[in-house]
Amino acid sequence: MSEEDVEKQENEEKEITYKFIEDLPGVGPATSKKLRTLGYHTVESVAMATSRELEPAGVGQKKAFSIIEAARSVIGVNFIRADELLKMSKDVLRLTTGSKAIDNIVGGGLETQTITEFYGEYGSGKSQICHQLCVNVQLPPERGGLNGGALYVDTENTFRLERIIQMAKHLGIEPEEAVKKIIYAEAYTSDHQMFLLENADEIIKENNIKIIIVDSLTSHFRSEYVGREMLAPRQQRLNKHMHKLIALSRAFNTIAVVTNQVMSKPDVFFGNAIHPIGGHIVGHTSNTRIFLRRASRGPVRIARIVASPYLPEAEEIFKVTENGIEDVSEEEKLSKKRG
Ligand SMILES: Nc1ncnc2c1ncn2[C@@H]1O[C@H](COP(=O)(O)OP(=O)(O)O)[C@@H](O)[C@H]1O
Ligand SMILES: [Mg+2]
Repeated sequence: MSEEDVEKQENEEKEITYKFIEDLPGVGPATSKKLRTLGYHTVESVAMATSRELEPAGVGQKKAFSIIEAARSVIGVNFIRADELLKMSKDVLRLTTGSKAIDNIVGGGLETQTITEFYGEYGSGKSQICHQLCVNVQLPPERGGLNGGALYVDTENTFRLERIIQMAKHLGIEPEEAVKKIIYAEAYTSDHQMFLLENADEIIKENNIKIIIVDSLTSHFRSEYVGREMLAPRQQRLNKHMHKLIALSRAFNTIAVVTNQVMSKPDVFFGNAIHPIGGHIVGHTSNTRIFLRRASRGPVRIARIVASPYLPEAEEIFKVTENGIEDVSEEEKLSKKRG
């Protein structure tokens, strides 16, 4: 073979792209069937798997590695050079929350490829924000949206279509169109909740999903895993669930949002302090944590960035109204100060 032939062959190899998991080298009919039962329906999700996660499909570690490597070659994630990392971060898209004040403290909107966690007491506005994001994601980029759809995993049965319709109308989106772009799933148990995400890859791809919402992340886990001895298995499952979510958000360049309740814990210095559920695991996997609380009686809420790899701690107010999530106007702020 001449040098030219070698070059030609190399170029051809470079251009190989695998469209379906069945196209991946080493994936025969039996393996692909098992991969699909494990929740891997797309090349993107295989690319984000670890070899251990593929072993239940009946492939040895070595073969699992080579399958994952082939999948990664398609979407370009393997060892990443810093300049490529920069390129990946340029792919990061941002979505408006509906409040410019909140957008500002999170650096211009919620971002893709990371998990944003909203935590706070009952009624603090977590689910309202989730509803708003489902509508905002459908907006064109010039209005702060991503021209995409939403996937909503509801664990507390608090999703309300009427709210979506109200918010869509306010933004001038045809309600019938708005509801078509939201894929809804109610999770009945924590296992079911995990199963839903583990099998979401095809739905995300086919429906151009740009935001995945889990509202609430922790409620089932909290009620099912009771007692000290259940804490370790609970955290292990939660960890797995969060990793699936982050993998999906990276593979498909989507936003991921989870909500979380709080508990009051006796604190040596501050009396009773408010803590989010799930401890370190949830905290370490969600990249940005936002604490929500009521300002007083009425529609005003306070959002505080509690942890983020690069954002400073900051606090802003917004309000929840009939229209959805909105900014508090300057006049309202002034009259509040006077009043
Ligand atoms: N249609 C509406 N108009 C005005 N405010 C609303 C409307 N729907 C819900 N809210 C506000 O949102 C609050 C519920 O917030 P929610 O997001 O469900 O809380 P949680 O943090 O428990 O998920 C209500 O107490 C109310 O203040
Ligand atoms: Mg809620």
